[in-house]
Amino acid sequence: MSSTPDVAAGHAGMQDFGTGGASPAGGVGPAGGDRPRRTPDGRLTLLDIERPGNPDVFDQRVRDDAAQIIARYPAGQSRSALLPMLHLVQSEQGYVSPDGIAFCADVLGLTKAQVAAVATFYTMYKRQPTGEYLVSVCTNTLCGMLGGDEIYQTLSELLGVGMNQTAGSPAEPGSITLEHAECLAACDYAPVVTVNYEFFDNQTTESAVGLVEQLRSGNRPAPTRGAPLCSFKQISRQIAGFVDDRPEARTAPATGAPTEAGVTVAQQLGHRAPSYGPETSSAAEHAERAAASSERHAERAAANNTGARTGSSAHDEPLQTSGSDPSAGSPTGGQSERIEKGE
Ligand code: FES
Repeated sequence: MSSTPDVAAGHAGMQDFGTGGASPAGGVGPAGGDRPRRTPDGRLTLLDIERPGNPDVFDQRVRDDAAQIIARYPAGQSRSALLPMLHLVQSEQGYVSPDGIAFCADVLGLTKAQVAAVATFYTMYKRQPTGEYLVSVCTNTLCGMLGGDEIYQTLSELLGVGMNQTAGSPAEPGSITLEHAECLAACDYAPVVTVNYEFFDNQTTESAVGLVEQLRSGNRPAPTRGAPLCSFKQISRQIAGFVDDRPEARTAPATGAPTEAGVTVAQQLGHRAPSYGPETSSAAEHAERAAASSERHAERAAANNTGARTGSSAHDEPLQTSGSDPSAGSPTGGQSERIEKGE
């Protein structure tokens, strides 16, 4: 197997992140990537009886990377490494091919059916060669209502492709695979588009078109927050757990003002979240909180006895559990006993 410049860059500490480092591809694994087989009923499958996959297309360098991934897990539990392993083979070939499945099965001691079952479950594992850029448009409820549906439709028409299809050859710089995605966990910036999982917030159809046109013309616009763009293969390698050591990636802001709005208000009001351990909270503070909590419980109990309600709804009243049932200790059981008696 020969390495593409893209892959080589990934193994040299992700150094070649300029657009000139985009993968000419085709040198790793099957030339141009073999496409998934379509079953008679129209489904795509990665398991091809006639071409079951060849783990040997991945050379010693990739096996060494696999060994690093497996070493992160307890001895004897190498199968737990399957998810990063799938990202690793995707970083080599741009998708999870039959060869990638065979390689993961070979290295982890799994069957190919077990690997394929996982690879086809998660949408981040691509079943066809992916372009230099994976453009994901959130069309979940919030983004969809705020313009995500129109953005996806506009980009689909502009690129002439549909879901999971690629404009241009995946082997070429500037190629774009389009997908619509469910919530991208950035609802506070809706509508959101990601490029190789980096965020472009508060998009409009115009800004999204501008973004895609820049990518196609060989530019890499800066994401709204997070690390600078890299190729799909390179981001797959990062997700496999190999650190992106570009200095600008390490210093890039991960959040923005909307994400931190709640924290800011809490700080202004002097609110503090309960801590989880004595190292962040003194014993006196624990005792103080425990006392306040008992006081609230006592107030609620008193209010319940007088028929007054202190909670905002019936849902925050104490549940009738066996522990709170006065007759729970009876031989026939408290609450069920009363139900049987019609009380
Ligand atoms: S709905 Fe789009 S990021 Fe959550």
